[in-house]
Amino acid sequence: MSGSTQTKSADATPGPTESPVVLGDIVFTAVDIDRAVRDIAARIRADYRGEPLLLVGVLKGAIVFVGDLMRALGDYPLAVDFVVVASYGTGRVDGRGDVRILKDLERNPAGNNVLLVEDIVDEGYTLEYLRKNLATRAPKSLRACALVDKPFHRRTDVIVDYVGLRAPDAFLVGYGLDHQERFRNLPYICELRPAR
Ligand code: PRP
Repeated sequence: MSGSTQTKSADATPGPTESPVVLGDIVFTAVDIDRAVRDIAARIRADYRGEPLLLVGVLKGAIVFVGDLMRALGDYPLAVDFVVVASYGTGRVDGRGDVRILKDLERNPAGNNVLLVEDIVDEGYTLEYLRKNLATRAPKSLRACALVDKPFHRRTDVIVDYVGLRAPDAFLVGYGLDHQERFRNLPYICELRPAR
């Protein structure tokens, strides 16, 4: 864990020299998150006016948010699909983000109102890549929502149409956000700190 960007190095495998970490202050409680999810759902309902949606969850981080957003949308007509991506921040030799699709959509997005669902936008490479990729596949419309926006280390000008929560400049875990695959199951979002 270096700095407070959420993105990781190309080799994120835990090793024997990995520094121990501890959970820090809670940044967003379960109540904060619930309110933000409902707010995004209300804005989506108002904007799409009953037009069917294709929610595209970006795994693994969005696993919890997608489930809650779907339920918050209630009886709204929608289908859900998922992509699994790996992103390595500025891992490329040219300093740009290196994002790869590990598992693609099962549905053809052509003609659909595609709404990308992210847990967090940090440097922005992941969402930028997915927006460009999906845009080439003839969607009827293409927007993105993120539960958490963390703009302090943004390296792209990617558009996030719906944002739930504005994060501080800290490494965050919980509600889908992980540190080496741990802490995704926390029902709140908190800081992660090096153990002293
Ligand atoms: C996280 C998060 C976003 C992405 C945002 O995913 O879920 O998809 O990073 O980072 P960016 O804006 O700097 O590109 P990660 O690659 O950690 O994988 P995960 O979803 O499996 O946790």
